[in-house]
Amino acid sequence: PPLRSLRMSSSLTFSTKFLIIKKIINRLIDTGRSISSIICCFSPYFPAGLILRFILHLHHTVRHYAVNACLLPICQLHGAAVTTVEGIGSTKTRIHPVQERIAKAHGSQCGFCTPGMVMSMYALLRNKPQPSMDDITQALAGNLCRCTGYRPIVDGCRTFCQEANCCQTNGGGDCCLDVKDETDEQDHEKPQLFNKDEFLPLDPTQELIFPPELILMAESSNLKTLTFYGERTSWVSPTSLDELVQLKSSNPKAPLVMGNTNVGPDIKFKGVLHPLIISPTRVVDFSCVPAGVWVGAGCNLSEVQSLLEKLAPQFPKEKTELFRALIRQLRNLGSQQIRNVASLGGNIMSAYPNSDLNPVLAAGNCKSSLNPPGGRREVHLNQDFFVSFGKTVLKPEEIIVSVFIPFTREGEFVGALRQAPRKEAAFATVTTGMRVFFSERSRVVQEVSIYYGGMGPTTVSAAKTCAAIVSKPWDDETLSRAYDVLLDELDLPPSAPGGKVEFRRSLTLSLLFKFNLEVLQKLREMVRQGTISVSILSKLCCPTFGVINRLHLLFHQHVSKDQSAHDPVGRPIMHRSAISQATGEAVYCDDIPKTDGELFMTVVTSARAHAKITSLDVSEALRLPGVVDVITAKDIPGKNVRTEFGYDEELLAESQVSCVGQMICAVVADTRVHAKRGAAAVKISYEDLPDPVFTAEDAIEKSSFFEPRRVIWRGNVTEAFKTVDQLHEGEIRLAGQEHFYMETQSMLVIPVGEETEFKVYASSQWPTLTQEAIAETLNIPSNRVTCHVKRIGGGFGGKVTKTPLLASVTAVAAQKTSRPVRFVLERGDDMLITGARHPVLGRYKVGFMKDGRIVAADIQYYSNAGHTIDESLMIVEKILLHMDNAYNIPNLHGRGAACRTNLPSNTSFRGFGVPQGIMIMENMINDVAVLLGRPIREINMYKGPSVTHYKMEFSPENMLRCWNECKVKSDFSNRRKAVDQFNQQNRWKKRGMAILPIKYGIAFAEGQFNQVSLVHIYKDGSVLVTHGGTEMGQGIHTKIQQVASRELHIPTSKIYISETSTNTVPNTCPTAASFGTDANGMAVKNACMTLYQRLEPIRQKDPKGSWESWIDAAYFEKISLSATGYHGGPDLYMDWDKMEGQPYAYFTYGTCCCEVELDCLTGDYRTVRTDLMVDIGRSVNPSVDIGQIEGAFMQGLGLYTLEELKFSPFGLLYTRGPSQYKIPAVCDTPLRFNVYLLPDSDNPHAIYSSKGIGEPIVFLGSSVFFAIKDAVAAARSDSGLVGPFSLDSPATPERACLACSSPFTKKIPVSKPGSFKPWALNI
Ligand SMILES: Cc1cc2nc3c(=O)[nH]c(=O)nc-3n(C[C@H](O)[C@H](O)[C@H](O)COP(=O)(O)OP(=O)(O)OC[C@H]3O[C@@H](n4cnc5c(N)ncnc54)[C@H](O)[C@@H]3O)c2cc1C
Ligand code: FES
Repeated sequence: PPLRSLRMSSSLTFSTKFLIIKKIINRLIDTGRSISSIICCFSPYFPAGLILRFILHLHHTVRHYAVNACLLPICQLHGAAVTTVEGIGSTKTRIHPVQERIAKAHGSQCGFCTPGMVMSMYALLRNKPQPSMDDITQALAGNLCRCTGYRPIVDGCRTFCQEANCCQTNGGGDCCLDVKDETDEQDHEKPQLFNKDEFLPLDPTQELIFPPELILMAESSNLKTLTFYGERTSWVSPTSLDELVQLKSSNPKAPLVMGNTNVGPDIKFKGVLHPLIISPTRVVDFSCVPAGVWVGAGCNLSEVQSLLEKLAPQFPKEKTELFRALIRQLRNLGSQQIRNVASLGGNIMSAYPNSDLNPVLAAGNCKSSLNPPGGRREVHLNQDFFVSFGKTVLKPEEIIVSVFIPFTREGEFVGALRQAPRKEAAFATVTTGMRVFFSERSRVVQEVSIYYGGMGPTTVSAAKTCAAIVSKPWDDETLSRAYDVLLDELDLPPSAPGGKVEFRRSLTLSLLFKFNLEVLQKLREMVRQGTISVSILSKLCCPTFGVINRLHLLFHQHVSKDQSAHDPVGRPIMHRSAISQATGEAVYCDDIPKTDGELFMTVVTSARAHAKITSLDVSEALRLPGVVDVITAKDIPGKNVRTEFGYDEELLAESQVSCVGQMICAVVADTRVHAKRGAAAVKISYEDLPDPVFTAEDAIEKSSFFEPRRVIWRGNVTEAFKTVDQLHEGEIRLAGQEHFYMETQSMLVIPVGEETEFKVYASSQWPTLTQEAIAETLNIPSNRVTCHVKRIGGGFGGKVTKTPLLASVTAVAAQKTSRPVRFVLERGDDMLITGARHPVLGRYKVGFMKDGRIVAADIQYYSNAGHTIDESLMIVEKILLHMDNAYNIPNLHGRGAACRTNLPSNTSFRGFGVPQGIMIMENMINDVAVLLGRPIREINMYKGPSVTHYKMEFSPENMLRCWNECKVKSDFSNRRKAVDQFNQQNRWKKRGMAILPIKYGIAFAEGQFNQVSLVHIYKDGSVLVTHGGTEMGQGIHTKIQQVASRELHIPTSKIYISETSTNTVPNTCPTAASFGTDANGMAVKNACMTLYQRLEPIRQKDPKGSWESWIDAAYFEKISLSATGYHGGPDLYMDWDKMEGQPYAYFTYGTCCCEVELDCLTGDYRTVRTDLMVDIGRSVNPSVDIGQIEGAFMQGLGLYTLEELKFSPFGLLYTRGPSQYKIPAVCDTPLRFNVYLLPDSDNPHAIYSSKGIGEPIVFLGSSVFFAIKDAVAAARSDSGLVGPFSLDSPATPERACLACSSPFTKKIPVSKPGSFKPWALNI
């Protein structure tokens, strides 16, 4: 029926007993926001702590689905039971075993991802109480965590797995159970990070039941159409197919929303407005009704997968080739949370260019059944079906009711292959479905069908290639002709959208080659006359690593035998908030309840990289409902700039913009949605200015730098170059990296209402700077601004200097409107505005002797700072100070420049330039080793008492111990031989190994940074500690609690840390530089010692008294129970004129050995094994430190092999969300991941002899890069290519595959640079 005749609807019925949903509904009533946008606030775009339970009408069974909250429209919840993380357990009642195990296994650091992890695992256990490891990794595949490196999360979940065999296939032919323990320790003596025996048992009988009222409702025959009217959209949910067909034919433009995985993102990110949405999820005939192999188009993809998995074994193998190809593809499509909602019909109709299913459905001769008004018709899903981007032949009013998946015939083979930037939860770069049918018992092709995704605007058919194959024998000659035809047929212009042109074209060939090998294998089985070796085929056709089962060895020091059992220092204490994080009770900035009159802010950013602003028209925005004001530079009462190193950075651009994403104005409105609509209505005109600068090369050409440029040298490189045996020059480019903290930048500024006082709640790593910046912007003294930070959902350096800028604009809005203003960036805006890790271009010249000694090296570093200086100068300095890494190069010359470009301003990121800087040195060393044909690292290392190139004395003893121990623990030399042997036996799969050291300086070179703490003891004996460090997952509060516990001699349970705030501890330094515990721990120790000494007389009077009785007595004896502690930090400095100094308190050392296996045809790789030996002195908390080590390693792995920020030729960041920007997921963790802490290491410079560890290990992620490079070198040598070659970072599958220089990549013509405008810049 036409829309206007629809009945006004009944109410929405779903069942929940849980707090969070009440919160959501209350907010919904308050604000009129949609549920998806609200739940998204809890966990933007990621599976939030939410599962849905539906009763399946047909089978009367309850299914549990973990879903992505942000894709779930509230109207879709009708009839469902919604379970949130708060609902399954709470600290007030009883925590759920999943919550307990993830927390106690140390799987929660910042905790922002934890509810999602808990609920994905909970959903799995509800459907399958005894899951396999494969089930667990599949269930977690769609959840991202930026802190932990996943190992502890998987370890916690693994305790639910009952599998006897922990390692069925680990690729090397070995089972981990057979691997002998590399340590001498017996199992029972090994220190454990958690004790499984303490865990609550899982008792499925105690789980929540499905609400009976919903069962009754589902079983009722009296289903009614539901209609909901919103501000701009109406939602209709019919119950019968006839009604659905009628609705669609009268409203052809209305989308059918099934999983909402296509429509939802379009509404959210592209601003698409649908006045009417039709939701067919309640139409029974549309659901998963298998009729033979007719599958209902409304089936979600998980249902399709399990249906096919159930059917496949019931039929002869040759009949189910297509089923099995689809199962393979479905297992890798999106994530389980996506497959749980995305429908088969929706996938087909979305007609994505890189849909994984459509090429297979098309190649497999599938057809769809349509239901236009007045009858049914069938349409084949072939080249005529997929018309163009997002378009099919269907008329707007037509609906796919079901899809026919045919059986295959004897002699018919189907292949489904894909290559994606990340193995799981990533759209494919190229994906394909191929089918070949042979004449009876022969090699002659009777039918062939080849389709690709990722090679055009929609699924494309390689019809000419098929014509070149059909009626011919399937042999080398035919295939070789087919490759040539394919190359011509599937051409891509050099500037094709999506880029990766050469790679995509080569993948079309190599995927056909892989299919060929699969077919040959099957043919051989069929006609028993094969000619290719089984070993080659097995390495090619089957993934070498079937089941991902990891073995971990985690060794840390024991605490000494004489340490008191009550002293927690040195013990693996769980993160103090882990349980609250796992139950969803932990409060982040945006969880602070809405205050009276609160407004929401959104910023409007520049669309141009370099332009004058010619007009700014906010009138239309101001007219929109809910919009309260628009804030421009003119509204700033104080300074509109922050000045760093003599350079000004505007908060809001006034007359000119210098990058896309620069903030120009801000819209404040009553709700987030209204603020967004207001921002979209602001009109800005620009006049472009000439010659924007984007790359380091542009900056060099135009001499666009932030001054001063830094130089450092020792010896005389020019003279030394004349004396060496050989010279070599090289270059490597390292891309930037998005912080991708799970909690985006968030803040709330509340005007107190008198004397210009403001309370600020922010996710800031530097509350003091946030306070100062706001005071300066509002032109008020700092004592009117208090900044509070309870916890941060990940920071990694991205919330040091950027948060103060954003908070200042928020404060202007709060001051102007006299109302509280909340500003929580959406992921895309956060990525666009707040910058990233600096990309660095390194150029080097090296002189060395035949024995491998490097005599001289001259290295130039160009870091891409973006349009403002931020901390770029300090980052360049840190790069130069770490350029020597572990090597004593007598003549060393470093030059560093921060390039001023028209890109968003880059900022600090874990490692502060060191991960980029050292990489250039290591690449240079690698080149020399390749030229000489032997390893040269050891011969060049510092040995004995040593002096750095900036004249700082140090002992490299522990660095060398780490190196040697790592070689032993990793069994380096034997495995190296095994890798070489593997490479000789395999042409298309290669293994590579690398071992790398790090020497990382700890503390701020700026001497003024110091720390203060404040410790209060209350009359009841409870202790409140405040210090300057912010908790962002790194466990600083847990360690500080341990320090206070040791010093006050009381259990940690009596000690509480509420927040970090500028009114308790003033003038703090940022929580950064791996220095948080060093500095704050000492300040807290100092305060606690003062208090403990004050209590001494009381203790002496009553030695048998308790802590509480002493405190009580002290109170009556008027002893102050509050003390401040102070830690001035070491006297550090660096004199750049003299090029000497003592910029660090000490060094943290480590060594990492990695092995990878690379598929040379696609560039896909897997980290087989990682061994990390780290010197962190005497760890205050080994579980927290091991968590930092693993998390940093995985972040490094992302930096060097996976994460790519892509900019358009006009400087617009394309990669603004998790679907375009891939951080490591569970699938990327090494199959074996061994972490060892160097024993017997002391450090007199930090608290309790510990060492800072937050940052150093990021660099060691590059061992995966160098292992890939080693594997690529082996592949190149098979193609006759020897010597150093260029491989930029990240070594993505694209780069690795092209560097292998296979016969397929060699076929791809390379377009001349400059002859076309590339889709993306090479930053
Ligand atoms: C994070 C993420 C990752 C993903 N990864 C992958 C991947 O790796 N590989 C891959 O192939 N896909 C991937 N997808 C795409 C996903 O598979 C599709 O978006 C999904 O299948 C669409 O189904 P839906 O039910 O959600 O469609 P909806 O968004 O509900 O609808 C999409 C469109 O299809 C139309 N439609 C739906 N059903 C019918 C019908 N029966 N008849 C006629 N029209 C209909 C609607 O009108 C609408 O226009 C991913 C999506 C997301 C969000
Ligand atoms: S603990 Fe997973 S994102 Fe922080």
